[in-house]
Amino acid sequence: MNTEPHAAAPWWTSAVVYQIYPRSFQDSDGDGIGDLRGILQRVDYLAELGVDVVWLSPVYRSPQHDNGYDISDYQDIDPLFGTLDDLDLLTAALHEHGIKVVMDLVVNHTSHEHQWFAESRSAKDSPRRDWYWWRPGRGGMEPGAPGAEPTNWGSLFSGPAWEYDEATGEYYLHLFSREQPDLNWENPAVRQAIYGMMRWWLDRGIDGFRMDVINFISKDVRADGSLPDGPVVSGPYGDPAQGTINGPRVHEFLQEMQREVFGGRRDAVLLVGETPGTTVEDGLLFSDRRRGELDMVFTFEHVSLDQGPAGKFDRKPLDLRDLKATLGRWQTGLADVGWNALYWDNHDQPRIVSRYGDDGRYRVESATMLATVLHLHRGTPYVYQGEELAMTNAHFTSFDAYRDIESLRFVAQSRELGHLTDDQILASLAAVSRDNARTPVQWDSSANAGFTTGKPWIAVNLNHATINAQGQRADRGSVFQYYRQLIMLRHSDPVVQLGDFTMLLPEHPHIYAFSRSLNGTKLFVLGNFSGHDQKADLGQSLSDGAELVIGNYRAPASIVGAIISLRPWEALAIREPGRTRSGGTRP
Ligand code: GLC
Repeated sequence: MNTEPHAAAPWWTSAVVYQIYPRSFQDSDGDGIGDLRGILQRVDYLAELGVDVVWLSPVYRSPQHDNGYDISDYQDIDPLFGTLDDLDLLTAALHEHGIKVVMDLVVNHTSHEHQWFAESRSAKDSPRRDWYWWRPGRGGMEPGAPGAEPTNWGSLFSGPAWEYDEATGEYYLHLFSREQPDLNWENPAVRQAIYGMMRWWLDRGIDGFRMDVINFISKDVRADGSLPDGPVVSGPYGDPAQGTINGPRVHEFLQEMQREVFGGRRDAVLLVGETPGTTVEDGLLFSDRRRGELDMVFTFEHVSLDQGPAGKFDRKPLDLRDLKATLGRWQTGLADVGWNALYWDNHDQPRIVSRYGDDGRYRVESATMLATVLHLHRGTPYVYQGEELAMTNAHFTSFDAYRDIESLRFVAQSRELGHLTDDQILASLAAVSRDNARTPVQWDSSANAGFTTGKPWIAVNLNHATINAQGQRADRGSVFQYYRQLIMLRHSDPVVQLGDFTMLLPEHPHIYAFSRSLNGTKLFVLGNFSGHDQKADLGQSLSDGAELVIGNYRAPASIVGAIISLRPWEALAIREPGRTRSGGTRP
């Protein structure tokens, strides 16, 4: 139940965030890589779409092993993307349109080329040694030999999570690639350096942070300095989750960050944490406003339901009932306090229309259905670049098309282990590689889709001839225009912003249905997750005053009594005005 008076609701309850992955957004200088001046050229597009906040994936100085999620200088811009002046120009242009700017904050790890790591690695007695996780090999084993790593943890990018450093005879921890050593947050000097850097960005005019894997910062370290092995579920390595996710001090660190960084600015900024492996209970602690740690969290359960037992690259079909149970649990769990970040897509996920929709015959219908369902949940919706055009997966068919470090390491490890054929590996990549989301934004039908005049760093999707922004901006029936409507609805409708959420028809295998309610007004939202006609029984007939708020078919759906018939991938939202307009029934 929402007990907050409307006036006191934070600004982001009526906001929509747009994520830019700069490398793939717009190139301005012909080097084939998107940049800040490229984004500047597209500010009008963002304003037309109507978004309130832009989240920029990392543009800091970086050797780009993980496309910028490996930062070598937090207070400078990588020359690939431009300069600090370019960023100031972009921020000013966005602010002029009332659009806030949120930076990615990647502080679980740095690049191995960061000065801090260079110093840390230089000698065992370096004053910065303890800024990272250095450990000797297992007792009784030859350091550097397979199995001698300090724990059995596998890295999230395949292979072991420890790298042996011959010069000093110890290992360092990297939960991601070996080029991304984990910072040691136990060390107060590390935390102070990060807080200082964050203040510097806020002083520069930034409006918030998207905090990369922020729930990995506290490791479960024992008094003797050792870290626990993890269970071996599949493959040769142990799962590091228990020792690294939502560790014992994570809330303490985030609360310290509040005190040290935000001061009087807390209400104006947006803080969203990326928190893999987080349960509803943890999510509540992170996003409870009274605790002030984060405003909302990105959780992963709803994008893991099509994953098989062997992990991310192991696929199985989605059962819609699981999706409803999962998202419904998050809606209920974070209803009274806390808040959800709502997303289907980002730079790490395959495109939703290719994943939970139909990117062939019903591309437009399924993309708009998925958008309707997501945006009308309680929470803050995130749109990932190109999602508003229903861009599809890349449909790459050869290994050499892929660029992403996670994908390439998966290929290398799978071939090494020899348990999958090349065709199986390619099929997994085609379904789930992060490169699916990273092909350039399709601006128009020209060569390279208007993204660059040079050679794009990753292939442009061939379907840009028909799927592109230019065509959709001019077409009233386009996915782009539909997203504009949804964003306007978020801005204008208090029920969408703050209404309670109730899941309906949880057992229906094809229809996603829920209601939102505020002060007696109800919004019914229905989405058909199939390419066939489906019927939904709402359990109550709609009144004469009921009106269609939004729908993705031109002709209205058939409603007879309580029965609504939905066409393939149809979505609609119906407002049922309350018996009492003055709020007699709620809250
Ligand atoms: C997050 C980012 C991802 C990156 C990883 C390591 O999951 O979203 O792109 O590879 O953290 O920084």
